[in-house]
Amino acid sequence: MKLQAVLFDLDGVITDTAKYHFIAWKQMAEGIGITIDSEFNESLKGIDRMQSLERILIHGHQEQRYSQAEKEQLAQAKNDEYVALLASLAPEDAYPGIKELLQELKDNGVPAVIASASKNAPLILDALQLTDAFQAIADPQGIPGKPAPDIFLRGAGLVGADPSCCIGIEDAQAGIEAIKAAGMYAVGVGEQRILGPSGADWVLPSTSGLTLRQLLAAAHME
Ligand code: BG6
Ligand code: MG
Repeated sequence: MKLQAVLFDLDGVITDTAKYHFIAWKQMAEGIGITIDSEFNESLKGIDRMQSLERILIHGHQEQRYSQAEKEQLAQAKNDEYVALLASLAPEDAYPGIKELLQELKDNGVPAVIASASKNAPLILDALQLTDAFQAIADPQGIPGKPAPDIFLRGAGLVGADPSCCIGIEDAQAGIEAIKAAGMYAVGVGEQRILGPSGADWVLPSTSGLTLRQLLAAAHME
């Protein structure tokens, strides 16, 4: 089977923005008397902004406390803090191996696509100077979020790829589930303990040194 596209999650795969999401959510949550830890944060990774807020409110037994308008304010406050944390993001903040892998994909004519829940994706790719490394960015607007397969299917559609001939790369449990639901080969970046149970086909500790050849061999593709 010939590989037709590689779909990348953004936060926690291309760069370490997952930590900034955690810092910003933790600060917002503390402001309303809710404590979140890194274990709970795993359940937020890959989940869109409003759904993340809902999960935090349920975690703190405050799901009935706020009106829709107040929830939007809380989410806005989190995003303001998050965007402020992004201000220092620079090209050298791409994770090790990412630029090399993207270059190798380009050299071999394999489209690279962003499949992220983040509305800040274009801003982050600009700061990393990686916008041109991707053939397409799937817009998360108007489709069900991860673990639903939609964002990966939309991404594959943008480059005319058959999902079963695609590889998805993710750092989140919900993201791995989404890739599998889309019928793609799922590469997890992180811990086997966290990503294995979600159905990752292959888990690596980091993207450092990751090559197209390794991806093809793992996925039994050409
Ligand atoms: C995902 C992150 O990539 O994007 C989540 O893993 C985040 O933590 C989601 O909530 C939405 O991001 P944003 O930037 O639109 O709030
Ligand atoms: Mg992620």
